Amino acid sequence: MSSYDVIVIGAGPGGYVCAIRCAQLGMKVAVVEGRATLGGTCLNVGCIPSKAMLHATHMLHEAEHNFASMGLKGKAPSVDWKQMLAYKDETIAQNTGGIEFLFKKNKVDWIKGWGSIPEAGKVKVGDDVHDAKHIVIASGSEASALPGVEVDEKTVVTSTGALELGKIPKKLVVIGAGVIGLELGSVYARLGAEVEVVEFLDAITPGMDAEIARQFQKMLTKQGLKFTLGAAVQSVAVKNNKATVTYKLRKDDSEHTLQADTVLVATGRKPFTAGLGIDALGVEMTERGQIKIDGKYATNIAGIYAIGDTVEGPMLAHKAEDEGMAVAEGIAGQQPHVNYGVIPGVIYTHPEVANVGETEESLKKQGRAYKVGKFPFMGNARAKANFAGDGFVKLLVDATTDRILGAHIIGPMAGDLIHEICVGMEFGAAAEDIARTCHAHPTYSEAVREAALACGDGAIHA
Ligand code: FAD
Ligand code: NAI
Repeated sequence: MSSYDVIVIGAGPGGYVCAIRCAQLGMKVAVVEGRATLGGTCLNVGCIPSKAMLHATHMLHEAEHNFASMGLKGKAPSVDWKQMLAYKDETIAQNTGGIEFLFKKNKVDWIKGWGSIPEAGKVKVGDDVHDAKHIVIASGSEASALPGVEVDEKTVVTSTGALELGKIPKKLVVIGAGVIGLELGSVYARLGAEVEVVEFLDAITPGMDAEIARQFQKMLTKQGLKFTLGAAVQSVAVKNNKATVTYKLRKDDSEHTLQADTVLVATGRKPFTAGLGIDALGVEMTERGQIKIDGKYATNIAGIYAIGDTVEGPMLAHKAEDEGMAVAEGIAGQQPHVNYGVIPGVIYTHPEVANVGETEESLKKQGRAYKVGKFPFMGNARAKANFAGDGFVKLLVDATTDRILGAHIIGPMAGDLIHEICVGMEFGAAAEDIARTCHAHPTYSEAVREAALACGDGAIHA
């Protein structure tokens, strides 16, 4: 048994970042993690492996579709599935090993095992009980279950199983046109699978600016993904390793079936708090099963905090990381602040889709007068050269003050380009501030500047 200033439960991006910040601020800190490796969902079965698979399959797509036009002749590579999975696993290992190194460097103890909180100030792991002045719950999330659908992680899989399939399916049905469904759907479409996405709502990617969502759907359709929208999945039956998906179209209640080799259930995630013992402690929860916290991430039980996917807000690694730093700084007596209005979201398909702040729909709902500045990547020299002219940058700015309220990018490197706008928003920038900033030529970032120019007297290359 040991005593700590802070014990963090969970070593995902929320937990490990919190622990490192605590150590940097002079606290004695340990992290309890039950998985065999550090890094949580993100590094083990989420962000990192999915991006490795997206990268590998994008390379294949480039070889198949664009190499010959650049004078790079020869047969496109064939897929060695085992090696692709090995590359993904090696990427995971490098990243999870990196966190272990950072723990050692910062003198963060890793208590191996599953932790629970028998009472405030105590964390139990196996038979050991450790003392902690502060406990931070960062236990993350798990895939939501869908009534009538039993996941076996072989034929009917969550994202975890989809990153480990024994072979590339001929036909993949994806339930849910959200971030996971579209990223992993893209991976398998590029690998030659027939991919059909069944979505409950009438549009893909709920919450996204509607114009971008429509454009995104068109692009994915061109890449071979098929969409059935407004369809509520009723059940999935598995026989001889083949699945039958039954869904009802919401518009007329008609019932339909689809056959598939693999079904990916990607209908959202929910906080994972099982086994922590927080029910018995009386930790208050929201109606949606999240841990209730105040502005300093404190639960209703003194000395117990919660962050990341276990609490309200977007389930994103960088949101969890920001909260990890903020809770550590708050415990150290500082006055941290996370700006929830400026948390970017990125979908790592090709092209990428990135957004931050308000959408046209949210501004209309608020009755706020706004201007739109748009610029297509077709007008960007670098994008044209790189076969990346599809898509556009869209800035939403206050009609009177020109202050940037939101940004939406569908196009090359959108996930990187969005950060110029995030920094601008943090500083309360107007579109004119970006428009008057010199951008190097030829870069994709010129498209962001042109969209800012379009909010004023006009873009130059449109
Ligand atoms: P987690 O990363 O879930 O970590 C929680 C950790 O706590 C786990 O390791 C778990 O084993 C451990 N734990 C739980 N209970 C206990 C206990 N009682 N004792 C000990 N340990 C415990 N987000 C992005 O921002 N970008 C992306 O590209 C992205 N891609 C994703 C792709 C997929 C397929 C998935 C599933 C998610 C993706 N996400 C992405 C979401 C991202 O992974 C999560 O938002 C993020 O990991 C949340 O971090 P966290 O620290 O709150 O929890
Ligand atoms: P999601 O919330 O993004 O999408 C789920 C989709 O499933 C929604 O479109 C919803 O309408 C649909 N749906 C729900 N029930 C349905 C039903 N019965 N039939 C058909 N469709 C149904 O959830 P997803 O994709 O599972 O991702 C979970 C979380 O992981 C997200 O919150 C996301 O933020 C995070 N993530 C982030 C990534 C990134 O940042 N690039 C990548 C992958 C995941």
